[in-house]
Amino acid sequence: MQRTPIIAGNWKMHKTIQEARDFVRAVRSFLPGGKVETVICAPFTALAALVEELHNYPAAIGAQNVHWEESGAYTGEISPGMLVEIGVKYVIIGHSERREYFAETDETVNRKAKAAFAHGLLPIVCVGENLEQRESGKTKELVRDQVIRAVEGLSSEQAKQLVIAYEPVWAIGTGKSSSAEDAQEVIAFIRSMVEDAFDSQVASQVRIQYGGSVKPDNIMAYLEQPDIDGALVGGASLAPDSFLQLVEAVR
Ligand code: G3H
Repeated sequence: MQRTPIIAGNWKMHKTIQEARDFVRAVRSFLPGGKVETVICAPFTALAALVEELHNYPAAIGAQNVHWEESGAYTGEISPGMLVEIGVKYVIIGHSERREYFAETDETVNRKAKAAFAHGLLPIVCVGENLEQRESGKTKELVRDQVIRAVEGLSSEQAKQLVIAYEPVWAIGTGKSSSAEDAQEVIAFIRSMVEDAFDSQVASQVRIQYGGSVKPDNIMAYLEQPDIDGALVGGASLAPDSFLQLVEAVR
């Protein structure tokens, strides 16, 4: 099964609307289409402007969080329908920063993933172990639980469209990336978990990214691995030049 690699920039809490517009005006004419899917996950405030700026260019827009309810008394939250209304296609769910600082759990990740699909929004579900879990040999156990809980109740058709980002927490923003071989091993394991939860067809179609200190000078090593279908990139996605180099690394 040929899977289209997906390179997603996660801007986290960076860039005003004007900065976001300036960024995409600098990169949009150079974005390759077809062989790679490019996604920019921006703060909520910049999403509508980015959708407008990228109209007719080969890049999709993603949010970094979503609530599972359609509406209601949830002060400060944004619903899947609200994101779809402005043209957002992807949403990051369960990023380790949300798990750590905002009490995201496997249960809320699952609720959000189901709600996203119900509205036609495609989840990028993040999983990954912290340093202590890695050092005590619990990486696979932890990642298995996160993946199995995240996909509970999804249909096979939904699961085929899922993107999973394997992001070891100790590699995020630290400059200490996982080796491509270690990332491949965990990602192949995640694919086998998807096969157990669904079937081999779903497992061969689901896209699994690596994330954690990915830079233009190391992305190729990940993309060369058979089970790694792209990257979720934080810091190196913030400057137009390095973002373009990441996207162009897909051959
Ligand atoms: O979502 C992106 C990850 O948190 C990776 O961030 O590339 O700055 O390490 P980083």
